[in-house]
Amino acid sequence: MAIPRNSLLVFVFVALVSIVSAEVYFEERFDDGWDSRWVKSDWKRDENTAGEWNHTSGKWNGDANDKGIQTTEDYRFYAISAEFPEFSNKDKTLVFQFSVKHEQKLDCGGGYMKLLSGDVDQKKFGGDTPYSIMFGPDICGYSTKKVHAILNHNDTNHLIKKDVTCMTDQLSHVYTFIIRPDSTYSILIDNEEKQSGNITSDWDILPPKKIKDPEAKKPEDWEDKEYITDPEDKKPEGYDDIPKEIPDPEAVKPEDWNDEEDGEWTAPTIPNPEYKGPWTPKKIKNPNYKGKWKAPMIDNPEYKEVPDLYVFPKLKYVGIELWQVKSGTLFDNVLVCDDPEYAKQLAEETWGKQKDAEKAAFDEAEKKKEEEENSKDDDDASDDEGDETDAESETDEKEADAEPEEEAEKEDDKKHDEL
Ligand SMILES: *[C@@H]1O[C@H](CO)[C@@H](O)[C@H](O)[C@H]1NC(C)=O
Ligand SMILES: *[C@@H]1O[C@H](CO)[C@@H](O)[C@H](O)[C@H]1NC(C)=O
Ligand SMILES: *[C@@H]1O[C@H](CO)[C@@H](O)[C@H](O)[C@H]1NC(C)=O
Repeated sequence: MAIPRNSLLVFVFVALVSIVSAEVYFEERFDDGWDSRWVKSDWKRDENTAGEWNHTSGKWNGDANDKGIQTTEDYRFYAISAEFPEFSNKDKTLVFQFSVKHEQKLDCGGGYMKLLSGDVDQKKFGGDTPYSIMFGPDICGYSTKKVHAILNHNDTNHLIKKDVTCMTDQLSHVYTFIIRPDSTYSILIDNEEKQSGNITSDWDILPPKKIKDPEAKKPEDWEDKEYITDPEDKKPEGYDDIPKEIPDPEAVKPEDWNDEEDGEWTAPTIPNPEYKGPWTPKKIKNPNYKGKWKAPMIDNPEYKEVPDLYVFPKLKYVGIELWQVKSGTLFDNVLVCDDPEYAKQLAEETWGKQKDAEKAAFDEAEKKKEEEENSKDDDDASDDEGDETDAESETDEKEADAEPEEEAEKEDDKKHDEL
């Protein structure tokens, strides 16, 4: 059993001893010494926009001793990576799993991770570094709340075509991406399958198998009009002689009408009920109608069967590369292995065991925050009496705040587009 693991992980091994067949390429629980395995990139450091990580279990957790790494500064770029012995997932199942918690109530930012191949200068790892797989939640406003699953082939990133909605609360969740050698895949959140299918059909990695024949032309005599004017229909004789208006047959000459003074009396006109407007021939169904013309589908000359579409032959690094408007995202329990059952048990041992206590701690923290805010409101209320300058300076602060936020969102939009 070739399992590269370090001594700190021995107890996990004991806990999961029932699974002996799993090959674990990388497993990180962020115990002490984690920073000897992870390399912080210098990306964006010279622009002072590189954010710092905190080794912590966060403000609420199910076990204060179980730490992860958390983003700590707003409006910052984050890039960090760890290396593992290079491997290919050919003929094997690939499992990529991690847990992530957005303590900040993330309104715009990513919580995804990447697998990288080949040789990467980890000190320069950043947004432009090519990757093989990108996976995990991404949130921005109301419109983006998705789980990314991007596969790179021949330097092109391909997004999954199916929707997978991510979790948006402030608790830990486990994201799992499984790719099998028969080219099927599954995406799990908290050990529950949220999406599955076939890589061939759910990503546009290959050009389409069939295309419309570009040479084909609609035949001259193709009848695509469903209705035609009836050639038999003829204008009835005298049709055009029917007047639009006629004298009102009911009108009577007023008794006091004086022909000499008032001129000759004529009845007022009314619309002629016989008049039907200008004549148009009847429409009938076209007896030669053949339907809408469509170019025939032909085999796409660009299409080539690629049987190993699921294979990434040189996987070697796991990385986190993010832009965060608001910090507070905490990553933990990163796993790259070949056995979904092993991954499931690891999730149960960590997130599964801690989630109830974490939720209770979160509820407690929320209650405390609410109480503090209420007592602050009471203080403010008494402060505010006859104190207008305070209120003014507060508005100013809010306006000053708005700008960097807009800038940051633009930056994030840019990043979303780059994907
Ligand atoms: C790290 O996280 C802990 C727990 O939330 C917090 O008390 C501490 O202030 C954080 N440190 C930094 C540098 O952000
Ligand atoms: C990638 O490029 C190689 C070489 O041009 C080609 O043989 C292969 O089919 C391409 N793979 C995909 C998935 O497009
Ligand atoms: C995946 O999709 C391709 C193309 O539609 C098909 O040939 C293949 O049999 C599918 N594989 C599985 C396991 O469903």
